[in-house]
Amino acid sequence: MWKGRFQQQTAALLQTYSESISYDWRLWPHDIEGSIAHSAALEKAGLLTSAEQQAIVDGLRQIGSEIEGGGFEFRTELEDIHMNIEAELTRRIGDPGAKLHTARSRNDQVALDIRLYLRSECDALDGLLSEMQSALVDLGERNSDVVIPGYTHLQRAQPVYFAHHLLAYVEMLQRDRERLSDCRKRINVMPLGSGAIAGSTILLDRQLVADLLGFPSVTRNSMDAVSDRDFAIELLSDLALIAMHLSRLSEDVILWASSEFHFVVLSDAFTTGSSLMPQKKNPDVAELTRGKTGRVYGNLMSLLTLMKGLPMTYNRDMQEDKEAIFDSIDTVKAALGVFAPMLREAKVHAARCAEAVADPNLLATDLADYLVNRGLPFRKAHEVIGRAVARCAELGCGLDQLPVREYRLLSELFEQNVHEILQVNRSMAARQAVGAPSPGNVANELTRWKTQLS
Ligand code: ARG
Repeated sequence: MWKGRFQQQTAALLQTYSESISYDWRLWPHDIEGSIAHSAALEKAGLLTSAEQQAIVDGLRQIGSEIEGGGFEFRTELEDIHMNIEAELTRRIGDPGAKLHTARSRNDQVALDIRLYLRSECDALDGLLSEMQSALVDLGERNSDVVIPGYTHLQRAQPVYFAHHLLAYVEMLQRDRERLSDCRKRINVMPLGSGAIAGSTILLDRQLVADLLGFPSVTRNSMDAVSDRDFAIELLSDLALIAMHLSRLSEDVILWASSEFHFVVLSDAFTTGSSLMPQKKNPDVAELTRGKTGRVYGNLMSLLTLMKGLPMTYNRDMQEDKEAIFDSIDTVKAALGVFAPMLREAKVHAARCAEAVADPNLLATDLADYLVNRGLPFRKAHEVIGRAVARCAELGCGLDQLPVREYRLLSELFEQNVHEILQVNRSMAARQAVGAPSPGNVANELTRWKTQLS
């Protein structure tokens, strides 16, 4: 491509070192789409006849279907996807192919390809996130009357509906979707026409290219357009947050599937056995998802570090953005793709949940509220119930077995009905504030999400 200036061939060692075709080949649909739009602008400017432009379009489409069918041979010495496609096009159709790169640089071309690629991946991710939310909502709905202990510090805290716990993740994934859709706005700006750095002396209709490719606007500064990858960093950080949410859900699933909790039974199809211990059934989907989160964080850090300190504008360093971008997208898509069907086959062990939630200490705060309702300041009520819990530990009983007499020794505000407080259903029914898990609220939220997601 640059043979005019050079007397020597590129060293084979450099070719191998600098090629990106081994991984950027997957940008081919976007490279072709972008080149077709660019050729339309060249035709409009009178730089291609309509026959030439048609030859370019036909040639590119043919190359596209050969790549798709696996019959196209990529050449390492042609470095990247842009030069592989352009060189092959020119070999096939001659001069019109050689005109295609007029007023274009690989710097704005690669910026365009990445933006087109990321835009379509945002849409794919949104669909997968929505499917994941539906799987969580459906699992909650199938088990809508199951109450489990909620935990803080991984210590039993207060009872919650299992569905309420799942809906917490639905909220998190919704914010992830909002972040993606916001990031998509900054991805969705058309950079072609920026050239290598300073546009071109040949005037092309950038808006036409933007319209053909479905971009609502064009970049406003040619140096910025070829120089920054902030939109990709933003997406990688959104992906890191998604991975973090999935990793926490994974940890919950791993705990729930353990013999100690045994709240959830995963299906055989989404678990693995042990090569040694015949009894084992391991939650590998969740463990792998938790593990892969490290990769997704690492890719974000790679890209931030890659861009730090680069002088304006394009630098070859930036070719190193692609593997990190591809890996984060592939990893998160794969995790979402396997997690949703795993949840769809998961069963809840209702009896075991009922047993765990029968722990009367889960309602210690309800007892404090009982005293508050009888006029005791909350701090004092907290201390009284703390003593009751300590007394129970001494006597080796639960709060529900502590005699009324003992309660009354701690505070005269306790009445004969104190034990009635220690009923899970009563406790749940009282939690009616917006966002709290009363049965009515949880049912409404399940319905709201089902409607929103359908
Ligand atoms: N393969 C390159 C990349 O991914 C394309 C742009 C090359 N530009 C250049 N001036 N060498 O960044």
